[in-house]
Amino acid sequence: MSQTYDFSVNGKPVSVALDNEATPLLYVLRNELGLMGTRFGCGLEQCGCCMVLIDGEPVKSCNREISALPGKSVTTVEGLGTREHPHPLQQAFLDEQAGQCGYCLSGILISAKALLEKNNAPTRQEIALALDGNLCRCGSHNRIIRAIQRAAAVMRGASQ
Ligand code: FES
Ligand code: FES
Repeated sequence: MSQTYDFSVNGKPVSVALDNEATPLLYVLRNELGLMGTRFGCGLEQCGCCMVLIDGEPVKSCNREISALPGKSVTTVEGLGTREHPHPLQQAFLDEQAGQCGYCLSGILISAKALLEKNNAPTRQEIALALDGNLCRCGSHNRIIRAIQRAAAVMRGASQ
């Protein structure tokens, strides 16, 4: 018998009916809500490309069961900005060409957003630590770190 789960995604209330309370949030986002920005990589909480914010904290959504979601607030990469009004992180990633295939980037943008909420001038080491759970197989790390520092500077209103 299906059960209904009520929570919010990118500021909008959602209600999904599912038979299996163990359905991962990642599947709900992609298959029920059509939000394809959050990616499936390993499915084992190892790669970070399924990262979302839950109540502001970065979480790997591939193993987060829907039964834990009622009442929570989820932010996906689609909630950061739009093509017309990108988030400073998204703009900085474009400006620095911080990525190659791009598969890891939605998870990395989410981890970076969580970092900048807490630390508006992170060092390279602090960024590396914050991205410890995000793999990038293309080796774009240097450009990714530069982009996050660039976004932080923009958000502080500092010159780059
Ligand atoms: S798909 Fe979730 S961590 Fe890899
Ligand atoms: S840009 Fe390809 S995995 Fe990171």
